[in-house]
Amino acid sequence: MCRKAWGFKSLLRHHKVFMLIFFLIFILAIAVTTTYALFSGIGWVPTRQADIDRFLRLADVGSKEKVYDLGCGDGRLVISASKLGAEAIGLEISILLYIGAVLRKFFSGSKAKIKFGDFWRVDLRQADVVYLFLIPRVYSRLKNKLEKELKPGAKVVVLVWPIPGWQPSVVDKIIGRPTLYLYVR
Ligand SMILES: C[S@@+](CC[C@H](N)C(=O)[O-])C[C@H]1O[C@@H](n2cnc3c(N)ncnc32)[C@H](O)[C@@H]1O
Repeated sequence: MCRKAWGFKSLLRHHKVFMLIFFLIFILAIAVTTTYALFSGIGWVPTRQADIDRFLRLADVGSKEKVYDLGCGDGRLVISASKLGAEAIGLEISILLYIGAVLRKFFSGSKAKIKFGDFWRVDLRQADVVYLFLIPRVYSRLKNKLEKELKPGAKVVVLVWPIPGWQPSVVDKIIGRPTLYLYVR
């Protein structure tokens, strides 16, 4: 009897240790992925829904398009694009944001694809539209990737900062709102 009680206590203690280890690993994963996102792209600042709607109109997103959001944050842009019938793929490296995006997708019933991973490792040859809300520090590396991988006619839309050396087809400027630049490869 006494041995049984001791066994249960020990199990409980092990269970607590296991939960603590799991929690610490999870916190570590959040810290590592968030820091990586800060250095390799930008931290999380969401695009407002009004600007997402501007993007969808500007890139003329419809059911035939394959749309990528490089660093999709909470997934709001790809969820909006998939509502128009597009095959929308969001890539996110920060684990907390990835979980948030998956939950948002789940509760909205969206068909958008939310993928956990580094957008630098993703092949963009099939992309019709690529959306970027990233810091200009990564533009020169990004330009190389986009020039190598994007097919002719693919559209790139960036928020706030234009891509140096590329000529935008349309500049969507609205007073009080961030500017959107549309490039056609
Ligand atoms: C400024 S936020 C934009 C979020 C979203 N695109 C939007 O417009 O609402 C940039 C996002 O890129 C993510 N990010 C940064 N570097 C990344 C990388 N190498 N791979 C995947 N995501 C990355 C960040 O975690 C962050 O969520």
